[in-house]
This record gives sequence, C-alpha cells and structure tokens, in this order.
Amino acid sequence: MKVLIADGVSQMAVDILKDDFECVIKDKLPAEELLQIIPEFDALIVRSASKVTAEVIDAATNLKIIGRAGVGVDNIDVPAATARGIIVINSPGGNTNAATEHTCAMMLAMARNIPIANETLQKGEWNRKQYTGVELKDKTLGVIGMGRIGSGVAKRALAFEMKVIGYDPYINEERAKDMGVEVGTFEDVIAKSDFITVHMPLTDSTRGMINKDVMYKMKKGVRLINCARGGIIVEEDLRDAVLDGQVAGAAVDVFTSEPIPADHPLLGVKNIFVTPHLGASTVEAQVGVAVDVAQGIKAALNGDPVMTA
Ligand code: NAD
Ligand code: MLT
Repeated sequence: MKVLIADGVSQMAVDILKDDFECVIKDKLPAEELLQIIPEFDALIVRSASKVTAEVIDAATNLKIIGRAGVGVDNIDVPAATARGIIVINSPGGNTNAATEHTCAMMLAMARNIPIANETLQKGEWNRKQYTGVELKDKTLGVIGMGRIGSGVAKRALAFEMKVIGYDPYINEERAKDMGVEVGTFEDVIAKSDFITVHMPLTDSTRGMINKDVMYKMKKGVRLINCARGGIIVEEDLRDAVLDGQVAGAAVDVFTSEPIPADHPLLGVKNIFVTPHLGASTVEAQVGVAVDVAQGIKAALNGDPVMTA
C-alpha cells in the first residue's frame, strides 16, 4: 500500500511507515498535482497547507485514511471523507505544549513591546522611553476555551502571578478551580480581563465571537491574543479597535485565510504583531504529531482500530 506524505511532515512519519508501506514525500504539493496523484494512494498525511477538498476525496478512489499532523481538521472535508468511508485522524495532543508556549511568548512579547523594540533597534534606533511595557503580575488573563491549550496557558499564567478567569461551555469547573482558575461567563471574562486569549476551534458558534461589539465591552486598553484559529476574532474589527485605542495591542498567529497577503488588515498596524502560524512549529511538536498520525495510519491499514478526529 502507498502513503502520500505532504506539507513537510517530519521524517519520523516515514521512519514509522516505511517498512510496511511505500512512502512518497511531497513537501510542496500544488492542489492540481494532489488531485492528479491521489488515486494511487491508500493513505494521505497532511499538515495545513494541503486542502483535502470534496473534489480531492472524490478523486481518491483508493484512499482509506487521512492523517492530519496537528489538531484542527479544518483543511479536510470531513463529511465528504466520512461519506466515502475514509477515516480521518489527527493528533489532538502532539502540539499542545508548543502552542501553549507560543501563546505565552506572544503575551510576554506584546506586554514588553519586544517585536517593535527589536525591529527599530535593528535599524539603529535606541527607543527606551517609547517602549515602556506593562507587567503580567496582578493582571487578569481571560482564557476563552479551557481545553488542552487554554488550560496549559492558564497554568503558566498563574506562575506569572496573574489572576486567571476562564470561560468554556464545557468546562470542568472542579478541575479549573483546583488549578486556581476562576470560572466565569463569557460576559465576565470579557469585562474583567486585561489580557484575553482564545483557544477554541473555529465553528459556526465561535466564528466572529470576538467582534466590534464585544471588543467595546472589554476594558479599554485590553490586549488580545489569537493562537487558535483565524476568524474567531474579526480581523477588520480588531484593526479598527487597535487604531482607536480601545484595544491596546494584539498578538496574532492565525488568520482567516493563510498565507496572508501583504495588504492584510492586521499588517502595518502599530501595536499589532503577527507570526505566520508558528504555534505548532517546534522540532518536538512536529515529531509528536508525525508519530501520532503515522502510528494511527499503520494501525488502520493493518486493520487495527484507531481513534478518529
Ligand atoms: P481542545 O479541543 O483541547 O480545546 C478546545 C476547547 O474549546 C474545548 O474545551 C471546548 O469546550 C472549547 N470550546 C468550544 N466551543 C467554545 C465556545 N463557543 N466558547 C468557548 N470555548 C469553547 O483544543 P486545543 O488543542 O486546546 O486547541 C485549541 C485551538 O488551537 C484549536 O482551534 C486548534 O486548532 C488550535 N491550534 C492552533 C495551533 C497553532 O499553530 N497556532 C496549534 C495547535 C492548536
Ligand atoms: C493545528 O491545528 O494543529 C495547528 O494549527 C498547527 C498546524 O497547523 O500545524
């Protein structure tokens, strides 16, 4: 059987699969080529660059399983795959620590103006006064989405002596309280926090959840972080609220459509800083997600049970 490994997924996936299956590696795979070659393959591993659309699934006459080397399966048409009996698996925990640490790095970098201070000093400008920051200690962090990454961020924020308030419709209140996290409503979190970070999937109920109306119910000078999914925070509304001073700063790793164009609304705005979807981009996480999906694919192709996404 043949496995197509796309999107620069770690070599660990090949190491796990190569003795049993023929592995074909295509790091940069144009959509047309994927469509053309997919009928040859029994399994497909992707990260986020390859879009596994209904058209691809339709053409994938031999495909038995799709492995997403990460958490979100938004680049895979799961209903289309399911309708064809193709299993979709992911790696729910393989990049949790990486995304958690990236979120904390974004929060600290934003609080201390590190991106702009670096950028200007690299140009020879010594701006000590201009880049006075704020401290995390004694500030309130609102965590919306208290799953794997949200709780990891909460735990680390507590170590910085922040007060943490969490909102999640499915929260385990006892666990949150044991951690030292106050559990609140969405409105509580919005109104009380100095920093707000979102950690839920992009769904019909979370799309646009942080919009203009919500931003103006926040404390003036709030700072926002999105390392979850583009579209949870409305990008144009965020730009306007930062330009207006309602939101003092924003740190954004994920965008409605990726990669972003040079005229994207969140580019070139003072007090907004961005990273190109780097949340899971650590050596360790890329090995973790590759191992998870490769083991799942090996099991499925050998007829053993697997946990679907
Ligand atoms: P998770 O499933 O462990 O947690 C998600 C949480 O969101 C759950 O607890 C769920 O109850 C909660 N939730 C669902 N709907 C909600 C709502 N309307 N309001 C508040 N909470 C809601 O997922 P995770 O592993 O913590 O990942 C969180 C997000 O981060 C996902 O979107 C994932 O794709 C993304 N992610 C991004 C990167 C990156 O590279 N930037 C890396 C990993 C994960
Ligand atoms: C994920 O959903 O796992 C992340 O967005 C990270 C990635 O795409 O690699």
